[in-house]
Amino acid sequence: MINVIRTKDYEEASDKAFEVMKEYLRPGKVLGLATGSTPLGLYARMVKDHQENGTSYKEIRSFNLDEYVGLPITHPESYYAFMHHNLFDHIDIPEENTHVPSGLGEDLEAQARHYDEMIDACPVDIQLLGIGSDGHIAFNEPGTPFDSGTHVTDLAESTIRDNCRFFDNDITKVPTQAVTQGIGTIMKAKAILLIATGSNKAKAVKEMLEGPIDVSCPASILQKHENVTVIIDEDAAALLG
Ligand code: PGA
Repeated sequence: MINVIRTKDYEEASDKAFEVMKEYLRPGKVLGLATGSTPLGLYARMVKDHQENGTSYKEIRSFNLDEYVGLPITHPESYYAFMHHNLFDHIDIPEENTHVPSGLGEDLEAQARHYDEMIDACPVDIQLLGIGSDGHIAFNEPGTPFDSGTHVTDLAESTIRDNCRFFDNDITKVPTQAVTQGIGTIMKAKAILLIATGSNKAKAVKEMLEGPIDVSCPASILQKHENVTVIIDEDAAALLG
């Protein structure tokens, strides 16, 4: 079941997301975390809450959704670096409790299987998601099977264009592959929190919420999950009936 929360703008969406997330900031919880522009407001609120209220992450664990193939963790645009820069370095979560898939290694598929095994052993309580303008969740691009596990994938042209802004607006610098949790992996999370803001997400949001459940819009599978909260601002809701 999808519970849709409509907000005025990005800031209000981030406030609402923090309200949902706050319930999970307790010892023993497992957070599924995401990168991209969307979660930045939520992460800023988590950092502020840690600093002002002392909310502790010492007994919280986290699993991230994805990572670019070929970027060392020291690359500023690696998702490992993103998570440290925007969240992990500012809260008290132990490094060993955090997991970001590695996009480097001899056998990425074997590493991907191991990532799924770790998640199976430590089920995610709440998975945070953004949505791509093409309806992707994590890097599961249109056409990805709904039962997929963590795997290596090619990025869609539209995703490479969308992410160009992080790579000096130079399309040749954007990695073309990623390791991503599969849709089947994501669907195992006990609860899902998806945030979508801005007009470039409006079409994907409409297909996710009102379209048929079809691999052409990967996020449409969320209609089948039993506990999903979708937070959207006015611009992202613009095409809803
Ligand atoms: P964004 O990306 O948060 O940078 O818009 C979302 C996504 O591609 O999942």
